Amino acid sequence: MTTAMFGFRRNAQGQACLGDPPLSDLLVASGLETPVYFYDLDAIAHEAQELDRGYGDAAHVIAYAVKANTAGSVVRTLAAQGIGADVVSAAELEVALACGVPAHKIVMSGVAKRDTELDYAIANGLLAIQAESVEEIGRIAARARALGRQARIGFRLNPGVEIDSHAHISTGHDKAKFGIVRADVARAFAAVDQAGDALVAVGLSTHVGSMLGEVNPYLKSAEHVCEVAKARRAQKPGLEYVSFGGGFGVDYGAGPIARPADFARAAVALRDREGLSDLTLVAEPGRSLVAPHGVLVAKVVQRKISGENLWLMIDAGMNDLIRPALYGAKHRIEPLEHAPSSPEWHVVGPVCESSDDFGTHPIGPQAPESVVIRDAGAYSFVMASEYNGRALASEVFVKGGHIVSKSASPGAAAWVKRRLQA
Ligand code: LLP
Repeated sequence: MTTAMFGFRRNAQGQACLGDPPLSDLLVASGLETPVYFYDLDAIAHEAQELDRGYGDAAHVIAYAVKANTAGSVVRTLAAQGIGADVVSAAELEVALACGVPAHKIVMSGVAKRDTELDYAIANGLLAIQAESVEEIGRIAARARALGRQARIGFRLNPGVEIDSHAHISTGHDKAKFGIVRADVARAFAAVDQAGDALVAVGLSTHVGSMLGEVNPYLKSAEHVCEVAKARRAQKPGLEYVSFGGGFGVDYGAGPIARPADFARAAVALRDREGLSDLTLVAEPGRSLVAPHGVLVAKVVQRKISGENLWLMIDAGMNDLIRPALYGAKHRIEPLEHAPSSPEWHVVGPVCESSDDFGTHPIGPQAPESVVIRDAGAYSFVMASEYNGRALASEVFVKGGHIVSKSASPGAAAWVKRRLQA
């Protein structure tokens, strides 16, 4: 019996594959022009199952941070595994609901939710709207009253913890705009209690940032959540869950780190140690469920050999994948049809910005026809723009070795038309 192949790999001929099929075959079968994102839905489902097993028998909700990859095929795949959702806008909420995520498994986060977004969330009776400030609690109460409903709310706590990550993805320190800081927690509970029937405080959450490589910083902020939960319960009943957030890192090539299920096991142990085992554990992972299982395939437009410099110019740019420009992130780039080897080439996109630069990669002695950019399943297509008149890339979804859905690029002509109408 052969075992199913998941995710990115190289076959015996050295071709880059996604699951079983070579990406070059998938590209031909798609009939699409590069750049094209490909996602392995089997690998994403498998990732969800592995994380789920980490929680064992503990009551839990894995609320997938939809922002990481909003594609319907991805959200439906996760929903079919029993995964919930963490959404940050009414539009993301609409996607999650339409993909079959039940409202009682959805939390809504975000520091500046508009009234219309609060109304939509309240009307749908989510697991919780996670308030990020004392001011917001008053706004949620007012909207609940206007709708004649009770809103279930959680607090996103800001524990004042610094994590070792890029400044732009570190959110749990007290200079961050996110969450309710320690000094404001008592005021926040008072605001809920004053709101009477309009609000019920059901959960406490935190999210200290992204790309955690080890469980300790996660547990440190989780301890703060448990402390607040215990203090609240000593005064009032009603709490149903604690969430220690998401932020489980992935290996972008720097070497192995803690697996998402390690975070899950540590969270269960902490919850039980703190005497909170009757509370549901909520987690909000985004990246770890999807990043390794998406790739971006690009064609080489030309090479440029200038003095010592080997440049490889490709048809995907910072508009398609902004993480290198924005965070100094490095995504491995490899030839599509053969394994990487020296020398290193400097890979750049077509956008007229010096930061449209993917860094140096072992491309080999010859410029290949096409390359694959790895680990592009999270925060990649969702952060794309049309800068420089470049249409959004196409996306292709693969399951059981076959293309099961695709979303074609709107194309340059549509962009031209829209700009002319502006
Ligand atoms: N929960 C909350 C409240 C969040 O703000 C986030 C991410 C998550 C969960 C999910 O975090 P994850 O498990 O994906 O690390 N664009 C950046 C990442 C921004 C993360 C924003 N918040 C990047 O490309 O690295």
